[in-house]
Amino acid sequence: RLPIVLDTDPGIDDAAAIAAALFAPELDVQLITTVAGNVSVEKTTRNALQLLHFWQADVPLAQGAAAPMLRPLRDAANVHGESGMEGYDFVEHNRQPLAKPAFIAIRDAVMSAPEPLTLVAIGPLTNIALLLTHYPECIFNIRRLVIMGGSAGRGNFTPNAEFNIAIDPEAAARVFQSGIDIVMCGLDVTNQAVLTPDYLEQLPQLNETGKMLHSLFSHYRSGSMSSGLRMHDLCAIAWLVRPELFALSPCFVAVETQGTWTAGATVVDIEGRLGQHANAQVALGLDVDGFRRWVSEVLALAP
Ligand code: BDR
Ligand code: CA
Repeated sequence: RLPIVLDTDPGIDDAAAIAAALFAPELDVQLITTVAGNVSVEKTTRNALQLLHFWQADVPLAQGAAAPMLRPLRDAANVHGESGMEGYDFVEHNRQPLAKPAFIAIRDAVMSAPEPLTLVAIGPLTNIALLLTHYPECIFNIRRLVIMGGSAGRGNFTPNAEFNIAIDPEAAARVFQSGIDIVMCGLDVTNQAVLTPDYLEQLPQLNETGKMLHSLFSHYRSGSMSSGLRMHDLCAIAWLVRPELFALSPCFVAVETQGTWTAGATVVDIEGRLGQHANAQVALGLDVDGFRRWVSEVLALAP
């Protein structure tokens, strides 16, 4: 099983991605870290702990950055609800995060891993940028970073910027400049990763996880229950276990940090016009039916 660290801001599509990461037989989630994004970091931590408790999963969790590197947090409560995971009554529990912050917990995981470790980031890249800034020695023991973020085309937060990158463009710029091996699953594929109304309707029959996700999905505003919902974050997990479903292109990717109207836009040089070396493998195509089949397979393995 591939050991991974999952950095997340649950987040309704994050919840589905966490389910897939925990129950995909190919993966071994060693650490979950939270970041401010969809809602405050206190809320994303609370949500992640509730999910771990729901699944009785024994995975350590560390709370991360409360705000982007240089900017105030702008959240996505309009998409995920005030709590960040609106729509299901989770039971009370007394799980607590680790005593250390996320970027230190990731450093410890990376530095003690016998083989280079895979990081997966499905929220703003603040924790990853802090890690690379404070502990650059980690770079040599990171096998790869898989992100949900960015777009080679239009944005979903501003006209040109995708939410995870737009919230902390300085962090994203640092990560893309770091030299680590990056796989970028951006809106080019995640906007296609739609679960259709028929599909969503059948989820509750699957198991308790299906019932819980269905309740969350009925409050999720990245699409609608009647036209289908976009599973952005699930794409990053899908790439890890079913890379053949994706078409990847090596590209130079820069993050705009200065633009008055374009901060957080990812400039993806597909045609190589800027004459720079590729610094990311960018997912530009997705086998949508294969993706849906895989989601069913993996969710069926959950309780
Ligand atoms: C990304 O933004 C968040 O709202 C989702 O959880 C996902 O990570 C999609 O742009
Ligand atoms: Ca997310």
